[in-house]
Amino acid sequence: MNKLLVSLLLTLGVTGGANAAGTIVGDAAAGQSKTAVCGACHNPDGNSLAPNFPKLAGQGDKYLLKQLNDIKGGKRTVLEMTGMLTAFSDQDLADIAAYFSSQKGSVGAADPKLVKQGEELFRGGNLEKGLPACTGCHSPNGAGIAAAGFPHLGGQHASYVAKQLTAFREGERTNDGDAMVMRSIAAKLSNKDIEALSSYIQGLH
Ligand code: HEC
Ligand code: HEC
Repeated sequence: MNKLLVSLLLTLGVTGGANAAGTIVGDAAAGQSKTAVCGACHNPDGNSLAPNFPKLAGQGDKYLLKQLNDIKGGKRTVLEMTGMLTAFSDQDLADIAAYFSSQKGSVGAADPKLVKQGEELFRGGNLEKGLPACTGCHSPNGAGIAAAGFPHLGGQHASYVAKQLTAFREGERTNDGDAMVMRSIAAKLSNKDIEALSSYIQGLH
């Protein structure tokens, strides 16, 4: 692991196994019946078809639950979901997260012209720019580290990924915690880097 990655992990507090387990346990079967309204955009199994709607299937439940709380509480703005989570209790959100997490995520394809650049950045980062490899937190196959809340990226729609990286870079998405991990990483990415990484991630599995 390189030094930069270790310091990022330390600021996230995830080294040394400091993962306080949540007290509420989600029930996937109960969650399914609460997701009728979500299917229109995310598809009933969470493998959304439209590239601007993120796939939720197979995503880590800890990450999903955090996003649901952030969206509900206004820490992350998703205009399309305005008011949609208000009526859900903490248990409902945990159930919904458990349901989508239990589904199998689908994989797309990368643009062959961008694979080399995307793979180099994803696996090696960029020493000159001080950019850590994505693999340290999102793992080499893009599966993420569910227990740490590091999201699964493999197979995600390229245009959604590009939108998130741009939003972190521009400071429009700010729910990556006080350590600003993704904002500081995205600040080092050019538009070309983002295009290559997003395409590579769409085909990664
Ligand atoms: C009208 C369309 C629409 C509906 C309905 C909808 N969403 Fe979303 N959702 C979106 C969009 C668009 C985004 C991504 C916004 C962005 O680009 O940041 C999103 C993002 C999310 C995310 C964050 C995913 C990630 O990878 O960070 C979660 C979790 C989520 N939605 C869950 C739900 C759940 C649960 C429901 C049903 C209660 C729901 N959504 C209903 C459009 C929708
Ligand atoms: C030190 C750990 C770390 C490294 C290294 C890292 N990430 Fe992340 N990433 C995270 C965390 C934590 C989140 C979730 C932030 C939140 O809670 O909203 C995240 C979120 C994301 C998201 C949003 C996922 C979604 O579904 O909305 C994308 C896209 C992403 N990272 C891409 C990358 C890429 C590309 C790289 C390499 C250039 C990278 N990350 C390097 C920790 C990391």
